[in-house]
Amino acid sequence: MNMSRRGFLAVAGGTGAAVTLTSCGSEAKPAQAGELLRSKAPLPEPFKVPLPIPPVKKPVRTDATTDYYRVVQRKAMVEILPGLKTEVMGYDGLLPGPTFDVRSGRATVVEQVTELDAPTVVHLHGGHTPAPSDGWPLDLLMPTGHQHEGHQMMSGGDMKTGSRTYTYPNTQRAGMLWYHDHTMDYTAPQVYRGLFGVHIIRDDEEDRLPLPKGDRELPLVIADRAFDTNGAFLYPLDSDGMGVEQKYMEGVIGDVTLVNGAPWPVHEVDAVRYRLRILNASNARRYELAFDKGPATFVQIGSDGGLLDAPIEHKTLVIAPAERFDVVVDFSQYQPGDEVTLVNKLDNNANVLRFKVARKANDDSSIPAKLSSYAVLPKPSGVVRREWRFRRGTANGHQGWTINGRGFDPKVMQAQVKLDQYEIWSFITDVHHPVHVHLSPFQVLSRGGKKPGAYDHGWKDTVDIRPAEVVEVLIKFTAHKGKYLIHCHNLEHEDMAMMAAFETI
Ligand code: C2O
Ligand code: CU
Ligand code: CU
Repeated sequence: MNMSRRGFLAVAGGTGAAVTLTSCGSEAKPAQAGELLRSKAPLPEPFKVPLPIPPVKKPVRTDATTDYYRVVQRKAMVEILPGLKTEVMGYDGLLPGPTFDVRSGRATVVEQVTELDAPTVVHLHGGHTPAPSDGWPLDLLMPTGHQHEGHQMMSGGDMKTGSRTYTYPNTQRAGMLWYHDHTMDYTAPQVYRGLFGVHIIRDDEEDRLPLPKGDRELPLVIADRAFDTNGAFLYPLDSDGMGVEQKYMEGVIGDVTLVNGAPWPVHEVDAVRYRLRILNASNARRYELAFDKGPATFVQIGSDGGLLDAPIEHKTLVIAPAERFDVVVDFSQYQPGDEVTLVNKLDNNANVLRFKVARKANDDSSIPAKLSSYAVLPKPSGVVRREWRFRRGTANGHQGWTINGRGFDPKVMQAQVKLDQYEIWSFITDVHHPVHVHLSPFQVLSRGGKKPGAYDHGWKDTVDIRPAEVVEVLIKFTAHKGKYLIHCHNLEHEDMAMMAAFETI
């Protein structure tokens, strides 16, 4: 079969001859992997728009074990840049989508209805999810009333038309997960247009802690975008419309930073502790978050997979696409009237978000020295080891990104992994790649032959691997047999085939 550049889903057909690489692609890269896409619209003035908080989704019904929800994927015109309208493709027409706020051990059942005109797939990132609900990239939710013969022929996945129900058991500890599109070949443009949102799991262990709560607990979903003159999102689709332009294969970097969907917003805070739950939902951009003026620091209390055992203080926070950091910031170190700005040190201290310290207030929160039962697992001996090499290369006949020498092929299982056994996986890179594994979290054992880095603590499901680096992780899959994915979470890399399937048995 003649495969399209990025895989099967884009219907096959002459997008040019195979390109052979002339460089081995291992030249040193700056910290920012990606190509800047500049807005044509005038950039908005920073710190004018208040920080929005995505609404918490209400169940349509609940029973003894389960909460049932209904989400409509649709287009909507929203004001992101003041005075202009942007068409988004959003869960309930929102960017970000509504927040799920659920209990560990209670199942979440989501009926996803589509009013869009393109196939979609929903994945719960960080979820311990049975394979039929995990968002296999060809388990498509198809629009109603359209012809999809090409997709029918090519897919080989489980297709549904109009609506599709996903079941998340939430049999896992508290943490901030996120849900987003995972359509084969189209994840990057579809997430870019708005198909992402937050899914928070809570449990008793966490509820007992005296952490900041209520409106002192803020989700901060950071994503960069570029805008056309009329306010539309700019995304560099190839002329065949089948994915990103080759020029942007390193990743699309926008020049406007959105936090919870607003450009460089401002948020008024009391001079007290806040819990900030930070997600980097950008396609490709990394951030090294810092405050423009002291003395505030980030006290990390959790990572992708929930609470750490003990807090860790950071001056700056390096966060790659798809990673989450749960931090407490103490604004009582500032005076009412002070303004403190979160900036990105990787981009010459570019603005991200401003806090205005409004007033003194009571604070009964604290950060306990012992946060959770999380424990570092001992490195076992005699376990199965696997290597996953993330490299630029020829993927499905075209220039793209590969894992262990091949581009994503949904028919090929690159590994068969037994449930309930520890494995040590080594991730090996050429350039920067944020590596993500579905189904189970992992613990970082080593980075570059040394101990884990400052940001590697806790249960992770995404780990940022720097150029020409090796990171070893300890992983164990449980409960669910089926087809799962490992991939780069730079979404342009992912769409250009840097994804591999494995099977749990
Ligand atoms: Cu957040 Cu397979 O992805
Ligand atoms: Cu995932
Ligand atoms: Cu990558």
